[in-house]
Amino acid sequence: GDVAVLVPAAGAGVRLGPGRPKALRLLAGEPLLVHAVRRLAEARSVHTIVVAAPVAEVDAVRELLAPVAPVSVVPGGAERQASVAAALAAVPAGPEIILVHDAARALTPPSLVEAVAAAVRAGRPAVIPVLPVVDTIKEVDAGEVVLGTVDRSALRAVQTPQGFLRSVLTSAHAAAGDPLTDDAGLVEKQGVPVSCVSGSEYALKITRPFDLALAEHLLAGGG
Ligand code: CTP
Ligand code: MG
Repeated sequence: GDVAVLVPAAGAGVRLGPGRPKALRLLAGEPLLVHAVRRLAEARSVHTIVVAAPVAEVDAVRELLAPVAPVSVVPGGAERQASVAAALAAVPAGPEIILVHDAARALTPPSLVEAVAAAVRAGRPAVIPVLPVVDTIKEVDAGEVVLGTVDRSALRAVQTPQGFLRSVLTSAHAAAGDPLTDDAGLVEKQGVPVSCVSGSEYALKITRPFDLALAEHLLAGGG
């Protein structure tokens, strides 16, 4: 394996409702983070995994993941971007391809991890998995009155893992300003082209209670 994967897992999970940090919430009896890391470790290209855990849960996360896969665990930051930066700083010399993957995308198939890594290996400096947007999209004003309809054929919903040449991700984080919600956004600001590959519906980000219920259903064989 020539790939390191960074797993930001330090978020609270406010939108999921009251409870433990989201990465430690249970899905079919196991924490979301365990599901995510197990699938990453199943991808043949993956050599190194670095998890950014909630500060108060670093030791607990180390113990939780020890039987799942060899991983490094570092304390995360206040924003996702800071958590990714902390994990990036902990990657040892060696891997020249780095993937960044949300712990919240717990059911992401290993095949998607391989597809993103393969596109970087084939020469793309930055690669993101995307899906077409299915709903009609409206732009609205502060009073929720419609300003117009956006051409959805040119829009994509973006997932993780996002893949980068190590040098590209490192430069983008070194130059980063205000926190963004994905790493490709930082790379775009550097003027580096970002390429898309087909995403997976299983890579949904578990964000709200409905998503957790859907993931339970998928794991139970209902999808
Ligand atoms: N994340 C992180 N550090 C933060 C915030 C988020 O590592 N300070 C991680 C989350 O753990 C998650 C991923 O980034 O795996 C995507 O974030 P999101 O889905 O927004 O998770 P949360 O921030 O935990 O959820 P919420 O925004 O509802 O609180
Ligand atoms: Mg968040």
